[in-house]
Amino acid sequence: MKKSYSILILVQFLCFSLSLGGDTISVNVSVSSGQTIMSSGGNFELGFFRPGDSRSYYIGIWYKKLYPQEVVWVANRDKPLDSADANLIISRGNLVLVDRLQNSIWSALAGNINPNISVTALLRDDGNLILNDVSKASMPLLLWQSFDYPTHTFLPGAKIGYDKRTQRKQLLISWKNLSDPAPGLYSMEMDPTRAQIVVKWNRTREYWASGSWDGRTFSLVPEMRTNYIYNFSYIDNENESYFTYSLNNSSLTSKWMMDVSGLIKQQVWFYGNIDWNL
Ligand SMILES: *[C@@H]1O[C@H](CO)[C@@H](O)[C@H](O)[C@H]1NC(C)=O
Ligand SMILES: *[C@@H]1O[C@H](CO)[C@@H](O)[C@H](O)[C@H]1NC(C)=O
Ligand SMILES: *[C@@H]1O[C@H](CO)[C@@H](O)[C@H](O)[C@H]1NC(C)=O
Ligand SMILES: *[C@@H]1O[C@H](CO)[C@@H](O)[C@H](O)[C@H]1NC(C)=O
Ligand SMILES: *[C@@H]1O[C@H](CO)[C@@H](O)[C@H](O)[C@H]1NC(C)=O
Ligand SMILES: *[C@@H]1O[C@H](CO)[C@@H](O)[C@H](O)[C@H]1NC(C)=O
Ligand SMILES: *[C@@H]1O[C@H](CO)[C@@H](O)[C@H](O)[C@H]1NC(C)=O
Ligand SMILES: *[C@@H]1O[C@H](CO)[C@@H](O)[C@H](O)[C@H]1NC(C)=O
Repeated sequence: MKKSYSILILVQFLCFSLSLGGDTISVNVSVSSGQTIMSSGGNFELGFFRPGDSRSYYIGIWYKKLYPQEVVWVANRDKPLDSADANLIISRGNLVLVDRLQNSIWSALAGNINPNISVTALLRDDGNLILNDVSKASMPLLLWQSFDYPTHTFLPGAKIGYDKRTQRKQLLISWKNLSDPAPGLYSMEMDPTRAQIVVKWNRTREYWASGSWDGRTFSLVPEMRTNYIYNFSYIDNENESYFTYSLNNSSLTSKWMMDVSGLIKQQVWFYGNIDWNL
């Protein structure tokens, strides 16, 4: 099995990240540079990072237990921060990244939402960052989730597909290069006309297709028939159509990633191993 040493240089982390000790951002708890929140089971961590030799700062989510650390989601991927003097806060019912002048650099929700509601952002142990309206503590209401806005990595439980209500695709887009997480040239998306996964160059020119979905595997991916550790499913209803997957074994960690060279990398980490299997 090949090992991917490239990830060694993917991300340069701040030397002293201090966990705030919780998994939640609220009006009372914000994250500033050097601080992180961690999911309850310790699988994922969220905070500021600087990729490669970049001088810019980004908010990301990475595996907490795996080393070398690797970012799976980036909030402000095309809106770099040039200073570490910034905060990820809850403001007027929204999750907002503000710079030192309190300018909004990135926010989770585009529209204005009711400033009176009480909102928290929770980092779940599957790597999903969810924004809840907790005005009624007994009945939290989901407002937004990072799994609906994947960047370059497809985690178990996330979606690759199409939201018919917002007419928005959920797709993976490669980084520009190892130091710049801005959207690059390669994307992995769902072909809504045939229920298959396709890979495109510059968002238009298709250069790989998975073949049609037969309910369990893709016709052009024979690897899926042996060693099948995935439970892929295709959901199509009035609101959305998408592919999602789970793993058949909780001691495995898995990801699909659209990498900077245009390859989809499907990787599995067996519990107790020291690196990914490609
Ligand atoms: C924030 O702190 C105030 C005062 O301690 C408290 O009343 C409120 O419930 C807290 N809000 C959240 C969302 O934790
Ligand atoms: C927020 O609460 C204030 C005071 O209770 C009220 O006047 C205002 O209409 C509320 N705003 C919204 C958008 O509900
Ligand atoms: C990455 O891309 C940015 C522009 O997006 C460029 O300024 C930078 O030099 C590139 N870095 C590397 C290591 O190629
Ligand atoms: C990608 O496509 C856009 C038009 O959609 C075009 O302007 C751009 O030059 C293309 N990029 C490259 C690298 O060819
Ligand atoms: C998961 O898949 C592997 C590979 O096919 C198989 O050996 C194993 O028994 C499966 N485990 C479960 C819990 O289904
Ligand atoms: C496979 O995925 C479907 C749909 O997401 C789910 O209902 C089912 O429980 C999963 N099966 C296993 C063995 O994980
Ligand atoms: C589609 O969205 C509507 C409105 O949010 C919801 O009531 C309905 O249950 C959804 N349908 C499915 C199949 O999820
Ligand atoms: C899950 O995977 C681990 C490591 O490969 C293996 O030791 C274990 O038996 C598997 N469990 C099941 C239920 O298949």
